[in-house]
Amino acid sequence: MAQEAFDLIDLLARERSLPLIDYARLISSFDEAGVAEYAAELARGKRREVYGDIVFVRGLIEISNICGNDCYYCGIRKSNAHCQRYALSDQEILDCCQEGYQLGLRTFVLQGGESGAYSVERICRLAHDIKTSFVDCSLTLSLGEYHYAAYQAMKQAGADRYLLRHETANAAHYALLHPGSMSFSNRMRCLRDLKALGFQAGCGMMVGSPGQTHDILAEDLKFIEEYAPEMCGIGPFIPHSQTPFAQHPAGSLSLTAFLLSLLRLMHPNVLLPATTALGSLEEGGREKGILSGANVVMPNLSPPALRERYSLYNNKLSSGAESAQNLEELRQRIASAGCAMSLKKGDHLPL
Ligand code: 5AD
Repeated sequence: MAQEAFDLIDLLARERSLPLIDYARLISSFDEAGVAEYAAELARGKRREVYGDIVFVRGLIEISNICGNDCYYCGIRKSNAHCQRYALSDQEILDCCQEGYQLGLRTFVLQGGESGAYSVERICRLAHDIKTSFVDCSLTLSLGEYHYAAYQAMKQAGADRYLLRHETANAAHYALLHPGSMSFSNRMRCLRDLKALGFQAGCGMMVGSPGQTHDILAEDLKFIEEYAPEMCGIGPFIPHSQTPFAQHPAGSLSLTAFLLSLLRLMHPNVLLPATTALGSLEEGGREKGILSGANVVMPNLSPPALRERYSLYNNKLSSGAESAQNLEELRQRIASAGCAMSLKKGDHLPL
């Protein structure tokens, strides 16, 4: 079996594509001797060819935890009455950008709960203000599902990139993770619209979410292969005590790392974060992600007093190297994983 896995990794590196069944075989071999290490080594080589040994930094501003959705896995779901809600004012958001700019950051990511505090007009005004105040910066939005016209207005207002994890590429699994008010088909429609509008678009999923199987993860890989996102955010599922999945075990760090390597082989130029969830799961998780082929980190740039309220899962890190105020620690940790930290905009490069 192990030899087959090595061959499949070579094939993926060469063809950037595998049949669905081979993705499933490969995923199931992730803990066989030497397999993940081999994929990581090839992944580092691909990253080096496209970007050099560079990890880009994005300042993450969690603008609001008010959410109209009720995703069963998420700590800021509407039904969590224990969540203390907040929404930053426009000025507070601009102040975060200003602080990030002074720290040297050149990409800001605005992330927040859905259908809550911000109208489309307000998001557009903010996007415009940020892009005109910080002309040499990129702006990423991660604010959930909207209609085409809303995304179009955000793009015209100046937003460059949009992150919307697909969460799972399997419709039945999507229905297990989300209430009936949310639909897989609308999520896919959003992702198509974002691409069509010319955003640098990002999808992604949790690893080890309830009900996920290796076959479903294979479907995720096939979807990502075909969607060809400019960015892809994957991280382990981590339970949150105030959700229906409170008792479900967290996802595996080593499987997440292996998937990062496969994504790097599939799309050598994809911008691939070593996510906060990876760093939160285990000490050294972020570094393992970088060693597996990740090339982005997104430290927290939100007002420190509010950070713990953006609790998507238990023990989510927002201090130390996860805090934008500690770029020196982050630089050292990235260096320990063999890469150099870059504060440049770090746009997606064509192959
Ligand atoms: N564990 C890990 N990731 C989570 N997210 C939400 N809840 C959790 C959790 N319990 C992820 C989702 C979402 C992103 C903002 O955070 O994938 O898209």
